[in-house]
Amino acid sequence: MTLDSNRKDQHVVLAEKQYQPTDLSDFGKMRFVHHSLPNLKVADISLQTEMAGMSLAAPFYINGMTGGSERTKQINADLAMVAKMTGLAMASGSVSAALKDPSVSDSFSVIRKVNPNGRIMANIGAHHSLDNAKRAVAILEADALQIHINAPQEMIMPEGDRDFTMWLRQIEEITAHVGVPVIVKEVGFGMSRETIGQLIAVGVRTIDVSGKGGTNFAAIENARRTAIAYDDLENWGQSTVISLLEADVHRGKAEFLASGGIKSPLDIVKALSLGAKAVGLSGQFLHMLLSDGPEKTAETVEAWKEQITTVMAMLGKVSVADLARTDLIFQRDILDWCDMRGID
Ligand code: FNR
Repeated sequence: MTLDSNRKDQHVVLAEKQYQPTDLSDFGKMRFVHHSLPNLKVADISLQTEMAGMSLAAPFYINGMTGGSERTKQINADLAMVAKMTGLAMASGSVSAALKDPSVSDSFSVIRKVNPNGRIMANIGAHHSLDNAKRAVAILEADALQIHINAPQEMIMPEGDRDFTMWLRQIEEITAHVGVPVIVKEVGFGMSRETIGQLIAVGVRTIDVSGKGGTNFAAIENARRTAIAYDDLENWGQSTVISLLEADVHRGKAEFLASGGIKSPLDIVKALSLGAKAVGLSGQFLHMLLSDGPEKTAETVEAWKEQITTVMAMLGKVSVADLARTDLIFQRDILDWCDMRGID
C-alpha cells in the first residue's frame, strides 16, 4: 500500500469516526421568517438549478471525497450508484493519487463506469499543472473539475505542501485552458470575500466556499499526526453561513456553491437562501452510505427532495433563484462578524 492510498483510507475512517449528528455549523443560528400566505401551487415548485455549466434536477450533490485505494474504490462505486439512482451530481476525491500511480486510476474511473451518463466532477489540488488537470478530467471523463484549496490541512499534515506561491497562478492557467468548467473549493475552512475576489480576478466563475461546521480537516490531520497535535487550530476558519455572507458582495460576478456542515434538507434551503446555487455534502453522505448502504441512501435522497419542496412551499418560493430573496434572521454573533467586516 502506498502512502497516498493509506492516507485516503485514514481520511475516510477518521471522517466517519469524527462525524457528529449534532449541529456544529452556524445554520442553527439563522432562521426563516414565517409568512402565512404562500400564494403558490406545490406543483409549480422546481428544484432545478445550474452549476458549472451543468443542469441539475435537485440543488444538492455528493461533494469531493475519495479514491486512491481498494476500499475507497468501493466507496466511490457505491456513491456513484446513489448518484445514478437519484440523478445527483457527484465529485471524486483528489485524483492526485492516480496521477502519481496509474494503477489506482480505476478507483476514480469506477465512478464513470457505474454512472455513464451522470454529471461527474474530477478533483485536484491547486499545485497541479494544467497537464495534470487535463489527465484528471480524462480519467473520469468529467463534466467539470474541482480544484481544492486547503492550506490549513497541508500545514497540519506532516507530509503536506509547504509552498503556496504558485496556487493562484495554477488556478488561473487551469481555469483558462482545461476545457471543462472549473469549481474552486475550500475543504471546510470557509472563504473570505478577499479570497473570493482574488479567484474572480483570475477568471474563476464557480466557487464552493466549503466552510467550517462539518468535516474538520484540522481535527482529521491532527489525529494522523505522530508529532505533537495542533489542538488549538481545530476551530480555524469561517463557517459556511459566514462564508456565504462574505461572498455576497460578489454576487453576479461568479456562482457560489455551499458546503461544510450540511446535514439536512433545511440546511440546504438555508444555504440556497444565502445565495448558493447548489449545495454539496460530503461527511453526511459518507455517514449515510457507511451506515445504511447505497439503496437506503438513495431513498433518503428522494425523501430530502420532497422535504426541500415542503420548505420552499412554506416560504412561498417556486424556484432556487427565488430562494435568494428570503427574509432571514441571524443570531448576534453572526451579525457581529458582519459589522466588523462591513457586510450589510
Ligand atoms: C473530503 N474533502 C475533500 N475535498 C476535496 O476537495 N478533495 C478531497 O480529496 C477531499 N477528501 C475528503 C475526504 C473525506 C473522507 C471527506 C469527508 C471530505 C472535503 C469535502 O469536499 C468538503 O469540502 C468538506 O468535507 C466539508 O463538507 P462536509 O463534509 O462537512 O459536508
